[in-house]
Amino acid sequence: MALLKISRMGHPVLMNRCAEVPDPTAPEIRRLVADMIETMHDANGVGIAAPQVYAPLRMFVFFAPDERADNEKLPGEDELHTAPLTVLINPQIEILGTEEAPLFEGCLSIPGLRGEVHRATHLRYRGVDQNGNTIAREAKGFHARVVQHEYDHIEGRLYPTRMRNMKRFLFESEAQHWVKKEPK
Ligand code: NI
Repeated sequence: MALLKISRMGHPVLMNRCAEVPDPTAPEIRRLVADMIETMHDANGVGIAAPQVYAPLRMFVFFAPDERADNEKLPGEDELHTAPLTVLINPQIEILGTEEAPLFEGCLSIPGLRGEVHRATHLRYRGVDQNGNTIAREAKGFHARVVQHEYDHIEGRLYPTRMRNMKRFLFESEAQHWVKKEPK
């Protein structure tokens, strides 16, 4: 395994639609998955997409920990709001409902900054992992947000292009003025 260099906003690899992965179980894809996971954890991220490590492929890894889940989740919905470490190759997403919510996001390719982004709160996604297993899930809240953020990466979009109010684009060091403290 190896730590990979992370591409930054402005590099063309982050601005173009990525290509389907022809064989998700190929050895080079499994190696890339392992390296992406190591790189994501090292950078303290909750997700990383292949173009963020200079691979223009439709795949990303992510997780949605319980401590980041929305406070307003309904009883019995815990599973929708959280996800274990997940590898998603050639994913498809389907937005469910029309509800959207704002939250400050960060991105490993835009270090030091945060921006408020409105995202759909409920969706369904499917794809395969590096072992050829089908992943099919419904997601809400933070879980749904992470999947949309990573999916945007493989479509060549970064979160600032989704922002509605550029006054809510700020340095992480100033975020405490705007972002409510996350409960630990
Ligand atoms: Ni990102």
